[in-house]
Amino acid sequence: MARLLNKVAVITGAARGIGRAIALRFAEEGCSLALSDLNLTGVQDTARECEAKGAAHGVRTATFPTNVTKRADVEAMVAGTVAQLGRLDILVNNAGIFNNAAFELMTDEQWDSMINVNLNSVLRSKSTKPSSLLGGPSWNLAATDTSRRWRCGIPGSAMSTTRSPRISARHSDC
Ligand SMILES: NC(=O)c1ccc[n+]([C@@H]2O[C@H](COP(=O)([O-])OP(=O)(O)OC[C@H]3O[C@@H](n4cnc5c(N)ncnc54)[C@H](O)[C@@H]3O)[C@@H](O)[C@H]2O)c1
Repeated sequence: MARLLNKVAVITGAARGIGRAIALRFAEEGCSLALSDLNLTGVQDTARECEAKGAAHGVRTATFPTNVTKRADVEAMVAGTVAQLGRLDILVNNAGIFNNAAFELMTDEQWDSMINVNLNSVLRSKSTKPSSLLGGPSWNLAATDTSRRWRCGIPGSAMSTTRSPRISARHSDC
């Protein structure tokens, strides 16, 4: 069954890990993909794998060297997606970083970079406005971390803080 046939998804941070896995699964479901990452070579590898996996459904891909903290990069990714793949139905805000320091040891730079990549990028992604582009339904999936690190004060606690609001960001789009 190809449940995403004729759909187009943008997936950020798709060069490896969870973003790459989501891309491959979407390709199996017939979804064409705009894949972005800081790592262009990695995302091009993911794109080749997706085209092979989705070949029976005519899956197409486009790749972008996008830094999700840069508004101009995000806007270029969206414009490029529509130009190359014709539409934009699904946005997967996946790109993220994890500074594995305990809260009391975290530097200002580590805190600011996680807030910027993991949280502020979600706001920038609103410039995609997928539903207004299409006049149809859109999905805005967000990676989430429901761990209890923050309460326990163990390494990773600050990363969890940057993740929890993304649950709300997802729900506000439903
Ligand atoms: N792995 C886990 O156990 C876990 C648990 C909860 C949440 N998450 C979240 O899921 C998402 C993916 O996790 P993962 O384990 O696959 O991470 P990963 O580190 O393996 O991959 C993240 C990808 O994002 C890219 N990236 C980083 N900063 C970027 C930026 N500014 N702009 C564009 N791309 C950028 C990286 O180049 C990399 O390819 C992250 O948001 C992470 O916080 C992961």
